[in-house]
Amino acid sequence: MDISIIGSGYVGLVSGACFAEVGHNVICVDNDQRKIDMLQAGKIPIYEPGLEEIVTRNVASGRLRFTSSIEDGVDNSQVVFIAVPTPPQPDGSVDLSFIERVAREIASVLKPGAYRVVVDKSTVPVKTGEKVTETIRRYNKEADFDVVSNPEFLREGCAVPDLMNPDRIVIGTNSDRAMALMHKIYDPFNAPVLVTDVNSAELIKHAANSFLALKISYINAVSAICEASGADVEKVASGIGMDKRIGRNFLNAGLGYGGSCFPKDIAAFIAISDELGVPFTLLKEVQRINAAQRDRFLKKMRETLWVLRDKKIAVWGISFKPDTDDVRSSVAVDLINDLTSEKAVVTCYDPKGAEKAKEFNLVPNAKIVDSALEAVEGAEALVIATEWKEFANIDLKEVKARMHTPLIFDGRNLLDPDAARKQGFVYHSVGRP
Ligand code: UDX
Repeated sequence: MDISIIGSGYVGLVSGACFAEVGHNVICVDNDQRKIDMLQAGKIPIYEPGLEEIVTRNVASGRLRFTSSIEDGVDNSQVVFIAVPTPPQPDGSVDLSFIERVAREIASVLKPGAYRVVVDKSTVPVKTGEKVTETIRRYNKEADFDVVSNPEFLREGCAVPDLMNPDRIVIGTNSDRAMALMHKIYDPFNAPVLVTDVNSAELIKHAANSFLALKISYINAVSAICEASGADVEKVASGIGMDKRIGRNFLNAGLGYGGSCFPKDIAAFIAISDELGVPFTLLKEVQRINAAQRDRFLKKMRETLWVLRDKKIAVWGISFKPDTDDVRSSVAVDLINDLTSEKAVVTCYDPKGAEKAKEFNLVPNAKIVDSALEAVEGAEALVIATEWKEFANIDLKEVKARMHTPLIFDGRNLLDPDAARKQGFVYHSVGRP
């Protein structure tokens, strides 16, 4: 199949690379010429394990190329994916201006008699497909096309395996013609396909992400009860997770969820439900619990350190989760800024996220250093804000030797409490005695 993907961000670039990997011809389009230049020069603008290899391999085989021309993409593909950002507006609702602009641009280059399937992969509010269809029709009366919703469920940090082996592929369309082409695209992937109408497919994405965030907030609320009662949240999570109806995944208590998806998608789903006149108030509680996790953690730090002002604090982790350089809406970033706003002297380290944190000046009052051990030099406390494997495997003896005071606040329950205490650390984590 000949495919084009408009938008070469996380979703667009990884999808494009994986489609090429299974044998399709893919054109990735982006209006950011700098990004296209980079990609054409063989440089990958994001860090995602395994991505560079498949991009390099498929560019070399001629199945993957990059362009800044939408016309080039649309002319040379049967199926045009839209994977542009859908950022939040201040009230939580979704800014659909990028989608609308791309719909107009596609309309302006569709040629009569050349049928195209326009597939929305970006996370959008229910009924967006209807609007995209209306928009393309308004700007091009002759166009022969169908609009399909095909939400993407990949997680950052494991985007390539998620895309190559998804739990399910959701295709929302009422057109048999479009469906036949979509099947051809997804045939090489070994995954169940769920076919729905466009509205249901769009809703599935917001409902799925909100449910996962609900699971995280649920266990975080339980972690607060564990702290108040002396129970252990990990044991509770194991106990409830062994029930197949519940499952153990996404029951890791910690500093709360962050990233470019959950906070935005939950806010969007709240706004969508409000707009439809059926407010989803449960999700407001999910947001409240998420924010409360960080507050409780800071309170715990203050209880031990008394005042944070002038305390030398090391923070391990800047990215919103491990195995990614993505620092957008990262709880670690918020925590670092909370600490510096209380005038703590913060030195932080992240294996991959440091560069982006510096580029966007996200932690302006903290010092970013080049290694985990450098960060703890002379520190009166160490905070673990992101659960990178590197931190789990570190030699605690060495850490203790470098610190001023052996005190750890583990915001991701990464370390074994017994092992840390055996090394002589005073150790606090989330929901564990
Ligand atoms: C999420 C969805 O998982 C994915 O399906 C969707 O396509 C995009 O949004 P992502 O944001 O990449 O993916 O990360 P994910 O691994 O889901 O983690 C999100 C946040 O939840 C992170 O901040 C993580 O630290 C936190 N989290 C996750 C927990 O606090 N506890 C858990 O048990 C799981």
